[in-house]
Amino acid sequence: MINRSQLFQALAERLQESRAVAMLGARQVGKTTLARSYASANNCAYFDLEDPQSLESLAQPMTSLNALLSQGRTVVIDEIQRRADLFPVLRTLIDRYERSAQFLLLGSASPLLQQQSSESLAGRLSLVSMGGLALAEVMEDGQALQAQAAELWLRGGFPRAVLASNPRAAMRWLRDYLSLVIERDLPLLGLNVAAPVMQRFWRLLAHYHGQTWNAAEPARSLGLSEPTVRRYLDFMTGLQLVRQLPPWHENLGKRQVKAPKIYIRDSGLLHYLWGIADSDALWQHPKSGASWEGFAMEQVMHVAQPDEAYFWATHAGAELDLLMFKQGLRVGVEFKRVDAPRMTASMHIALQDLKLDALYVVYPGELRYTIRPASGTSTGVAVEAIPLTDLAHVRANWS
Ligand SMILES: Nc1ncnc2c1ncn2[C@@H]1O[C@H](COP(=O)(O)OP(=O)(O)O)[C@@H](O)[C@H]1O
Ligand SMILES: [Mg+2]
Repeated sequence: MINRSQLFQALAERLQESRAVAMLGARQVGKTTLARSYASANNCAYFDLEDPQSLESLAQPMTSLNALLSQGRTVVIDEIQRRADLFPVLRTLIDRYERSAQFLLLGSASPLLQQQSSESLAGRLSLVSMGGLALAEVMEDGQALQAQAAELWLRGGFPRAVLASNPRAAMRWLRDYLSLVIERDLPLLGLNVAAPVMQRFWRLLAHYHGQTWNAAEPARSLGLSEPTVRRYLDFMTGLQLVRQLPPWHENLGKRQVKAPKIYIRDSGLLHYLWGIADSDALWQHPKSGASWEGFAMEQVMHVAQPDEAYFWATHAGAELDLLMFKQGLRVGVEFKRVDAPRMTASMHIALQDLKLDALYVVYPGELRYTIRPASGTSTGVAVEAIPLTDLAHVRANWS
């Protein structure tokens, strides 16, 4: 078992603060495993709505759940998207008892579920999203090893892909995973599209990974309308399988890019779609850099947990890979897969135009160093190179 103690801790804290918590995430990221360990450590009642016996014991939900809550127990309900009709019952019970940690709900993060839960449980539910394994979770002594980082990049973060006996087995698992999502989950979650069309849509996503997405071109190549393609993209984003990074726009009198950038969040899934099954092939692949950037971006987002995130680009060629807002601060991040990053013209422009409070350059090396000190510069902001395997510093500046 891979120890996910940070997540466990975060979940426990969240439950202590809220009457109800919903932990949402893509299938197979490890939600059930984490919730079961929480449940057994805290004597919770556990219902799995894909299990007929659990369903039966919730035939009279108000009575049975009330009995458990009145004993002071926390109730875990897994695969909640199967019984959205339970939400009104949950709402009544949540309002009846004032204590925290009444319910932990788990499910696939479909747009439909988010809508239903926010309508029925408005203001009562604290949402936690869960992804696959992050680099910060496989670290030893606060730092990840280069070899671990390379392996996680190749295979992605689904525990089953991480634990597969070799990378080829991981890729086979990812192939089956995607088929299952397309053929079984999407229809259950309300997206009814022929499987071959969805397979082609995913290949297109892989093609555009790390690039701006103008719906027109993908729509044309799939023979679908633009709104349809946009709906598919939003759906995959809701499932947390895809990240859409919106463009930041500033009143500068400069023309700026207005389409979102898209990323397949799990690097293993991306590599499967690209037909890559080992490290050599990954390094030699012409889009290797785009994959590394996406992987690094997910790791930064995991560590930094920003309030908002964007990219920025002008038509004149200046750009910033990631612009994060948190606690009123503006932090820029550039991803550079080079041995020793230096200042670039684009960084100077981003610092000036966007009035950044900090600028980090994340790179695959081993040392943290100052690229440009704060003193004696017009913006008074230091630029630092941060190893991908030592991202803790990005968070340290906020906490
Ligand atoms: N921390 C972990 N260490 C090892 N294997 C894990 C871990 N978390 C999940 N898994 C494995 O990954 C698979 C998916 O986990 P599961 O908890 O069922 O995910 P979900 O509920 O999100 O679909 C299972 O085979 C499980 O055993
Ligand atoms: Mg599960």
